[in-house]
This record gives sequence, C-alpha cells and structure tokens, in this order.
Amino acid sequence: MGKTKTKFICQECGYESPKWMGKCPGCSNWNTFVEEIEKRDTKKNTRGISSTRLMKLKDIAVEEEKRISTTYSELDRVLGGGIVNSSLVLVGGDPGIGKSTLLMQTADRVAKQDQKVLYVTGEESARQIKIRAERLGMESNNIYILAETNVEHIINSLEKLNPNLLILDSIQTIYNPEITSAPGSVSQVKEVTATIMRITKSSDMSTFIVGHVTKQGSIAGPRVLEHMVDTVLYFEGDTQHSYRILRAVKNRYGSTNEVGVFQMNDAGLEEIINPSSFFLESRTENSYGSVIAASMEGTRPLLIEIQALISHSSFGVPRRVTTGVDNSRAAMLMAVLEKKAGIQLQNSDAYINVIGGMQVKETAVDLPILCAIASSFKEINIDQNTIIMGEVGLSGEVRGIKDIDKRIKEAQKMGFKRAVVPFSNTKNVKNDKDSEEIEILNVKTIEEVLDILL
Ligand code: TYD
Ligand code: MG
Repeated sequence: MGKTKTKFICQECGYESPKWMGKCPGCSNWNTFVEEIEKRDTKKNTRGISSTRLMKLKDIAVEEEKRISTTYSELDRVLGGGIVNSSLVLVGGDPGIGKSTLLMQTADRVAKQDQKVLYVTGEESARQIKIRAERLGMESNNIYILAETNVEHIINSLEKLNPNLLILDSIQTIYNPEITSAPGSVSQVKEVTATIMRITKSSDMSTFIVGHVTKQGSIAGPRVLEHMVDTVLYFEGDTQHSYRILRAVKNRYGSTNEVGVFQMNDAGLEEIINPSSFFLESRTENSYGSVIAASMEGTRPLLIEIQALISHSSFGVPRRVTTGVDNSRAAMLMAVLEKKAGIQLQNSDAYINVIGGMQVKETAVDLPILCAIASSFKEINIDQNTIIMGEVGLSGEVRGIKDIDKRIKEAQKMGFKRAVVPFSNTKNVKNDKDSEEIEILNVKTIEEVLDILL
C-alpha cells in the first residue's frame, strides 16, 4: 500500500496543487480548491484502450462504425447519425433543463428497437422514475431501472444485464467507495468516468452520461471529462421558453456545431423538425422595428425575428439593452448608423431583442439588426415578406456571408418574396426550382439598404 497523499483540486477546471490557493491559476475562479485524498492508483490504463498491439497504420482495418438510431431525427443529427456502438456521450446542461426527460424518452425509443437499456439514476427513486415514465407515455418493456450511486454495484448490474445502452444520471451523484472525496468532486467524477469508459470501450454497449452545469457555466467536474468522452452535447434553453436546443460541442463521430431543436410540453420533449416556422409563428404583423433574419445554426438555416425599440432617453446616458445578440456588436451597428446614415441615436434608448429567447452570435445578423433599429427610429415598417442578411463593416459596407444558398432556400420555403443579400454573395445565389421565385436585391452599402427598405 502506498502512502495516502492529499492534494488540492480546483472543482471548476481540475487544476491540481499541493497547497491551498484562493484563486485558481487555471481558470481564475475564486474559492474553488477542495482538499482531496488521493489513493495511489495501480490501474495504469485508465484511457480505456486495452489493446497494446503494435501495428502498421496501413494495416489497420476500419469498418463503418455501427450506429443505433434514436428515431429522433434532431438527436440523430447532433450525434452525427445515431448512437455509435461503444461510444461515450456526455450530456451537459443546467439543472431542470430536461436532460433526464430527453434521455428517458431516448431510452424508450431505443428499447423499442429490441435493444436492452439500463437507466441508472442517482437523483431520483425508482418510484419517481416510474411516475415520470408514465407521464411520458413510455411503454417499452426493455428498459431496466437501477437507483444506485455506488459504481461497483452499477458494474455488477451491468455484468448481469449486458445492456446495449447505458444511461448514467448523473455523474455528480455516482461515486467509487475506494476514493474518499465526496461524490461530484473532480477525483470522483474522473474515476467513475474512467471506469465506465473502460467498460464501454471493451463492449458493444454505448453510454450516455448526464452532467450538471454549475453557475459559472462549466459542468462541475465534467468539464474535466470533456477530453475523455467521445461526444459532448449541451442541452440549452431558458426556463421562460419551452424550446430547448441540443448542441454538439465535441464529436469524434460527426460534425460539431450541429443543433437539434426540441420543445418541452406536458408530455415531455417533442422534436421541432421545422424550427423556422416555430420561431416565426407569433411574428408581429406590420409593426416597425421588426425584421426577419436568416441565421445559421450549425449546418441548418434558421429564420428568426429581431425587434428593436428606439425611444427617447430621459437620462443623460442612454440605455442600450440587448437580449439574444451581442451588446458591443449592437453598439457598433448604432455607431455605424450615426456616422454613415445620419441617424442620430445619442439621445435615444435602444432595446434589441431576438424573439423566442434565441441567442444569435453570427455576424450575418448585423444587417437585420441595423435595419430593425433604423425602422424603429424612423417609425416605418419593413415589408414582412422581405428577409435580410449580411455582415456590416465599420465604413457602412455590407459584407458577404457564408451558406447564402441554404438561407435563401429556407426563406423561399417559408414563403418570403424578397431577399436583401450582400453584393459579394451574388454569384452564389441560386433560386430554388421547387419553390416560388424570390426576388434577390444585391446591396453594397447600408445607405442602399435603407433606401430600398425605408
Ligand atoms: P428534467 O428532465 O428533470 O431536467 P434535468 O434532468 O435536466 O434536471 O426536467 C425538469 C423540468 O421539465 C421540470 O421542471 C418539469 C419539466 N417537465 C415538463 O414540462 N414536462 C414533462 O413531461 C416533464 C417530464 C418535465
Ligand atoms: Mg435530471
């Protein structure tokens, strides 16, 4: 037996130090160091790859990886085409966002395809799970529930059952009794994940691990897991709105920045196959300050409504409030409007909002934001059948954006009649043959755009 040593570990980022520190040099958070006793680990191979055979690169045979469909097209796409056999997926998100609901429903869908699913819960009792399952209308008899937090007991059940899919809800509640630190601490979370990873990689079973995110925005502990797992998905949304977005931030088996859109209602989560129509559903008719923008979420175009309200400021320093778009970007666009279009905003409060609580980070929404501000300022409506896209430069020029084709196609599908498109993108714009013709307006500067629209 080796000596037991203690060390201090940052619970945010996993930074290790022999002595306590107030501020973590790794992630700059305060008061995150916790003393943990470390057992000398004799198991060297914690990365889960067990074969140590020396091979020539060109002799390694690759087969197409086997996948199980979840039958949710939104989830399958984010995973890169279904759940890959022997893969480890981390699903992170705020508490209460719907992770357990999503995975319960996925368990049901997978189990219906004659696959054995084990759902391990460390957060709820078996009875609570049953109540939830009834609410979700789950009927498969291939799902097994284990309310357990000791990883050794979980492994015993795994050996007995041999499931095709394992769901661990959540990593913060499961512990290894050989490690003295508390469940949810960095050492526990790492150790449990390494154990589960070894089992997952050496069998045909795939595993989903649920991880809660802390206030600071990183998954407590699980941030240190991101490099161990194959796929990291984040489930986002706010509790004010019913829609939820599933985002891939890492995927060894597919593209990242894919998103899936879901809606939470009484009977659980429902996928939204056509998010544009969902976000445009309650579109305000004929009111100034409202513009429809075409933004891209991953590889998929998404049409969203952007609203601006410009009102006279009663204080010396005008307010600039944005939700869903970057504050400094909006300030920049207002400066461009003042300088290049002569719209004086220094005595006005400005409120900018993306409807539905969406977050857009793309620069392609510059021009729509700018148009919404101008429209509200001048109190002139922008035609409801016009879609606007383009990046705006500091000298008021409209710059090209990527994926113009997909955005135009989506706009056509949604019945838009006109599209304002950066001039430099003109070459790439093609009208979609299957939908009604859309009129393309090529623009070079914001003056041109405002002339056309207002
Ligand atoms: P849950 O999946 O428990 O969240 P997480 O596992 O991420 O912590 O979902 C919690 C919320 O979802 C809860 O506040 C209630 C809501 N909910 C519904 O609106 N409809 C449903 O059918 C279910 C099961 C939950
Ligand atoms: Mg939960």
